[in-house]
Amino acid sequence: MSGRGWLIRVAYTGVMRCNVFGTGYLGATHAAGMAELGHDVIGVDVDAGKIAKLAAGDVPFFEPGLRKLLSDNLAAGRLRFTTDYDLATEHADLHFLGVGTPQKKGEYGADLRHVHSVIDELVPRLTRPSVIVGKSTVPVGTAADLGRRARALAAYGVDVEVAWNPEFLREGYAVQDTLHPDRIVLGVQPDSIRSEAAVRELYASLLAEGVPFLRTDLQTAELVKVSANAFLATKISFINAISEVCEIADADVTVLADALGFDPRIGRRFLNAGLGFGGGCLPKDIRAFMARAGELGAGNALAFLREVDSINMRRRTRMVELTTAACGGSLLGANIAVLGAAFKPESDDVRDSPALNVAGMLQLNGATVNVYDPEALENSRKVFPTLNYSTSVAEACDRADAVLVLTEWREFVELDPAELADVVRNRVIVDGRNCLDVARWQSAGWRVHCLGRRLESV
Ligand code: UGA
Repeated sequence: MSGRGWLIRVAYTGVMRCNVFGTGYLGATHAAGMAELGHDVIGVDVDAGKIAKLAAGDVPFFEPGLRKLLSDNLAAGRLRFTTDYDLATEHADLHFLGVGTPQKKGEYGADLRHVHSVIDELVPRLTRPSVIVGKSTVPVGTAADLGRRARALAAYGVDVEVAWNPEFLREGYAVQDTLHPDRIVLGVQPDSIRSEAAVRELYASLLAEGVPFLRTDLQTAELVKVSANAFLATKISFINAISEVCEIADADVTVLADALGFDPRIGRRFLNAGLGFGGGCLPKDIRAFMARAGELGAGNALAFLREVDSINMRRRTRMVELTTAACGGSLLGANIAVLGAAFKPESDDVRDSPALNVAGMLQLNGATVNVYDPEALENSRKVFPTLNYSTSVAEACDRADAVLVLTEWREFVELDPAELADVVRNRVIVDGRNCLDVARWQSAGWRVHCLGRRLESV
């Protein structure tokens, strides 16, 4: 089929067929989201266990709203999952790439082996003109490389384009961010003839709602994504650096952040001081960005990200120091309740979780640590099997010498200090996320310590 015929078929039906390779966080959400937009979607993965779960409507991770999106679209017949590349290549000519790009072992750079293996498996099977749209976060230059790799692997006469459409979804809001993105960025090859039309058609209903669409070259699209995450990480570390000064100068960083936030050029979001950022994206993305800039000879330009990383990691040790002080100078034999293990609320993700890191350090310093999280216990047990895990706040806080709030789940923010007072040994609470109503806790007889704020009572 000619390139033109391919586009006409798409435009005529309005419903597109597409595949999504990689069914982790990003891929599974994108597949279900595209089906929800009315398209006919196959999610493909090499992990048969993951595919079986998704095909049965079971989401292998916690993400609000995703289970319903998945089961609705499976039931409607718009969404299928398979490990079969032949089935997928027969199904569609538009292929999304949503596999993981983790940090390399022992290095800052990104590990691209999954991206490469999809291209190597997929492209030789293609028999019609096709578009491969990358969504994974990759070092600048990767998409152009993949384009060359794809052209080398494609059968004679089969035209394969590579485009890049970075994903900006946040864990915990993945469904909303997929169905209502704040922008769509598409990087295309210089000689591209069909990528933009295909992607515009796929996202037609979003574009009709006025979502901004930016077409660019491949390298700009790649850089938009890592720059966005670098900016967010910098904003968090900025306020945390200021909080270090606030702590010494006896100023209140939360009021300061509110005051800064009224300036629309600054904005209040991502100015919450506390334990800092973790998760599978921000930490590894800033490191991979630094590594890539170094390779390109622009290492100096991103040297500040090393400081961003360092400020962020310092929050974790500061939290341990604050807890030690709250326990009277030593953690030896202290019974500590840790509320929160996920890297942020509304997620069961514990990758590079500041909360779990702190819990581990407290234990190393001789404390008995009881961790509770509403969703992340199972994942936590896998990475930190030696900590004690509780199935409720009350169980974790039983005879605690100090209670630590390390992830700002609503359940913790809304805790009743009077109720908890009878459970603990000492009414000492350490707020690692500046999310508690300090006056309320103090008036219930608690000593409150906040990361980045010095309080009168402390
Ligand atoms: C981040 C970006 O926000 C998404 O836009 C991006 O698509 C995603 O990475 C990705 O690259 O896939 P996510 O990792 O889900 O999303 O988490 P964020 O909401 O960005 O939070 C990251 C960390 O920063 C969390 O540990 C959170 O607790 C912390 N944080 C956030 C703060 O410490 N202070 C704040 O004010 C905000």
